[in-house]
Amino acid sequence: MGKKLGPDLFDPGELKPLPEAARRNRITVVLGAKGTGKSFWTKTDLASSLQSRESLYVWDSEDEYGGQIAGRRLVEAPHPEAMDWAKSAGAPPVSVRFNAAPRDQAHVAAAAAWLTPPSTVVFEEVHKVCPHGTPPEWFVNMVSTARHRACSLYLTSQRPARVPKDLVANADRVVIFRLGNEPDRRALFASLGDPRILTDTPDLELGQHLLIET
Ligand SMILES: Nc1ncnc2c1ncn2[C@@H]1O[C@H](COP(=O)(O)OP(=O)(O)O)[C@@H](O)[C@H]1O
Ligand SMILES: [Mg+2]
Repeated sequence: MGKKLGPDLFDPGELKPLPEAARRNRITVVLGAKGTGKSFWTKTDLASSLQSRESLYVWDSEDEYGGQIAGRRLVEAPHPEAMDWAKSAGAPPVSVRFNAAPRDQAHVAAAAAWLTPPSTVVFEEVHKVCPHGTPPEWFVNMVSTARHRACSLYLTSQRPARVPKDLVANADRVVIFRLGNEPDRRALFASLGDPRILTDTPDLELGQHLLIET
C-alpha cells in the first residue's frame, strides 16, 4: 500500500487529505462509572450510524465485543502479526476487533482505519491509551486529523478525570452516564461548563445519560 505504519502515519504534515465530499466524521466521547451503560449505548448508536461502506475497528480493552455489532461479525486481528495484517487490510469494509494486549494494538487499530477510509474506530476505556492522563503523540495527531481521513471515533472511559481535557473539549458529542466520583465530575465540569454535570450525574440510573452536543 506504500504507506508507512510508524507513528508518522498520523503526522498532519504527511497526510494527503481525502476529497471534501468523502469527509464525514464525528467524535463521540462516552463517560460514566463502570457498569452504567457506556458500551451498551455505544453498540446501539453504532447500529444506527454505521454506514454499509464504512470499516469498523474496535479496540476492545474490556473484552466485551463478542457476537454481532451493528449487524456485523467482528473478526479478530491476528496477534502478534497485527502490523503486517494492517498493511494488507485493503478491501473495506472490514470489521475487526483488537484485544488490549499488547497495548500497541490501539495504534494498529488506528493505522488500519487510516488506510481504509471511511471508517469508525471505537476505543473502549480510552484512558488506558493515555497513561498518567497524557496521550501519546500519535493519538493526538490521530484525533486532530480524523476528519481528513473520514474517520469517526467513539472514545469511552470510566475515568473521566484521566481523559485528556482537549479530547473532551473537541468532541462533537459527549454522552455522560452516572458519575459517582466527585473529582471526575469536577474535571468534566471544568472541560464542558455544563452545571448538570455536577447536579444530575450522581443520580442517573442504568442507561440514563446526559447528551452534550457541541
Ligand atoms: N439501556 C439499557 N437497558 C438495559 N440494560 C442495559 C442498558 N445499558 C446497559 N445495560 C446492561 O447493563 C450492563 C452494564 O452495561 P455496560 O454498557 O456494559 O456498562 P459500561 O460499559 O458502562 O461498563 C450490561 O449487562 C448491559 O447489557
Ligand atoms: Mg464498557
